[in-house]
Amino acid sequence: MAATAAVPNCQTAAVPTDLERARSDAEAVTARLGRHRVAVVLGTGWAEAFARLGGAGGRPPIATSELPGFTPPQVPGHAGSIASVPVGDLDVLVLGGRTHLYEGSSPAEVVHPVRVATLAGAELVVLTNAAGSLRAEVGPGEVVVVSDHLNLTGASPLTGDPDGFVDLSDLYCGRRRAALTARVGGLTEGVYAGVAGPQFETPAEIRALRTLGADLVGMSTVLEAIAAAHAGAEVVGLSLVTNLAAGLSTSIDHESILEVGHAATDRMSDVLEAVLADV
Ligand code: HPA
Repeated sequence: MAATAAVPNCQTAAVPTDLERARSDAEAVTARLGRHRVAVVLGTGWAEAFARLGGAGGRPPIATSELPGFTPPQVPGHAGSIASVPVGDLDVLVLGGRTHLYEGSSPAEVVHPVRVATLAGAELVVLTNAAGSLRAEVGPGEVVVVSDHLNLTGASPLTGDPDGFVDLSDLYCGRRRAALTARVGGLTEGVYAGVAGPQFETPAEIRALRTLGADLVGMSTVLEAIAAAHAGAEVVGLSLVTNLAAGLSTSIDHESILEVGHAATDRMSDVLEAVLADV
């Protein structure tokens, strides 16, 4: 049901709900790129790794600025586009350019791309991100498979949804994780703590997160994973460790986080390829 809003002449105008906005953008995506069973959300540093896998010949990508439901990203390394990329026999819907809570975006804006992907056919959503590691032995350049998450953002994309009681007990699909770690040597798993940011954590916060059971910390992924599960899709989460978390390293800055992505491209491509080989 569409909500209504007051307009200056005292009539009411229909305001599309979050789901209606997602449906409308999904129709546009499907019309231009077709339906896709698999979607990959590219986090910081992951675009180059995916580009190595993708064959040529896909249809022209859509700039998310052409789709009214998408919020323009503000951070370098997050250009907004949606592409259909052939990887072997599979056409993958690739979403580049997240928006984050720390940019001032709402939970609904953050999960809009994932909702569009699921409405455009995605049964598997692969969420990639950059993260800080809470384990000294898992350093920059390592790819970690997300086994579970702690949503510490204080937000949910399901607030206000009467059907929001979704089961998250196998959120990061255990069957796919087992297949992936069997296929790729030396891959570790970890619990991802999602925080709102934008500031990095204090050493005391990192010690507290460690006590809570976190192995990784980052500012994305958790709300998208919840929205994907709510839409009935399976989720795979992949973190590129870009730094040791506060207190385990001397300093953390956004520029060096982008550089690590570049150096680890081969490993990231191998892991992505293995995830997509299992579809
Ligand atoms: N903290 C939070 N988010 C991050 C970090 C971190 O250390 N590294 C990359 N994203």
